[in-house]
Amino acid sequence: MNSIDHGSNRVKQIPKSAIHEMTRLSKQVPDVAFLSWAKPTADTPEHIKEAAISAIKKGLVGGYSETPGLPELREEIVVKLERDNNIEANLSQILITVGAIEGLAAAVMALIDPGDEVILPTPTYSTHIRQVRIASGKPVLVPLIEEEGFQWDIEAVEKAITPRTKAIMYCSPNNPTGTSFSKEQISHLAELALQKNLMIITDEAYEYFVFDGLKHFSIASIPEMRKNVVSCYTFTKTYAMTGWRIGYLHADEELIPQISKVHIPMAICAPVVSQYAALAALQGPQDCVAQFRDHYLETRNLMCQRLDNMKSVFEYQKPTGSYLMFPKILLKGGQDSATFCKKLLREAQVSTTPGIAFGPTGEGHLRMSFCVPEAEINKAFDRIEEYVQENH
Ligand SMILES: Cc1ncc(COP(=O)(O)O)c(C=O)c1O
Repeated sequence: MNSIDHGSNRVKQIPKSAIHEMTRLSKQVPDVAFLSWAKPTADTPEHIKEAAISAIKKGLVGGYSETPGLPELREEIVVKLERDNNIEANLSQILITVGAIEGLAAAVMALIDPGDEVILPTPTYSTHIRQVRIASGKPVLVPLIEEEGFQWDIEAVEKAITPRTKAIMYCSPNNPTGTSFSKEQISHLAELALQKNLMIITDEAYEYFVFDGLKHFSIASIPEMRKNVVSCYTFTKTYAMTGWRIGYLHADEELIPQISKVHIPMAICAPVVSQYAALAALQGPQDCVAQFRDHYLETRNLMCQRLDNMKSVFEYQKPTGSYLMFPKILLKGGQDSATFCKKLLREAQVSTTPGIAFGPTGEGHLRMSFCVPEAEINKAFDRIEEYVQENH
């Protein structure tokens, strides 16, 4: 008997992650120009590392913390939510999680019954779709309007709502399109949620990386939405802390015990050493965040410039947030993004992610990350230009 025969049907129906597959294939290519990870390439700032080392030396990290996380960390998060997200919060509305990912998974498990429908945009972060499937929910994918910079189609969202719809789940800024959804659009989603009594689950991983004078807008800042939102945040992107696995969520205090019933069997608590590091991140100087944002703005502009020189190859919407963009492939064969991506990797030594990994309307696109040094972007685009000249 094949060992997969023992697997649950719930999990067997979930496809392998195309992002991790591209990473695996990329490792086999020497000197690859790597644009396929949404992971900050900078290291965690020194003062955060020092705080973790000091907590270890003081013997503070050998045990579990309280399930919802260290009270002093939650206190800092309350201050941050009020200052930066315009969300009024208290300690009992905060749960520290293992990255945003575990918070999102726990929220979905706590809110979704088998067969419940969850509306998500397409293209979107494929992990969200998987999380809904793992909870035996039904993802309902509503296409974003590409020509409008991948903004929501509010009418289409309204039409997609059925008596089984339980929640709307999205990330803003959006992975993979780099769209920072406008306050106006998010307010429309809030109105729909209130009218139809839906929950909203947000992933605000890229909240600090918003460009062109726009401001990140958190749906939980709308006072009437207090009971209808679970907002998930992370230290991963803001402070280049990917490997520390530390994030948090904010929700109504009646929901936190429900979400904790999932969080405990999955994690017990978030890694305590990382909680001390996160505390230092919030209490320490914030210039690293501005430096990262300035760098991503420069690399975004460079990537757009390089794409502007390839107008017969790619068409793109300028990202207003995150460090990702999602150009459409205009070349013959580009409609099959997985094959195109693998060819680009093998023949041009450039690693990108196929758009199909992000939902059906992602087909025919590539996701490219600009959270890399400028030299990496130039290396990748020099190679793509040469590849296109030789092959098309
Ligand atoms: C939209 C989005 N959410 C969450 C994550 C992962 O967050 P964390 O490391 O906090 O689990 C990523 C990572 O790429 C992401 O792009």
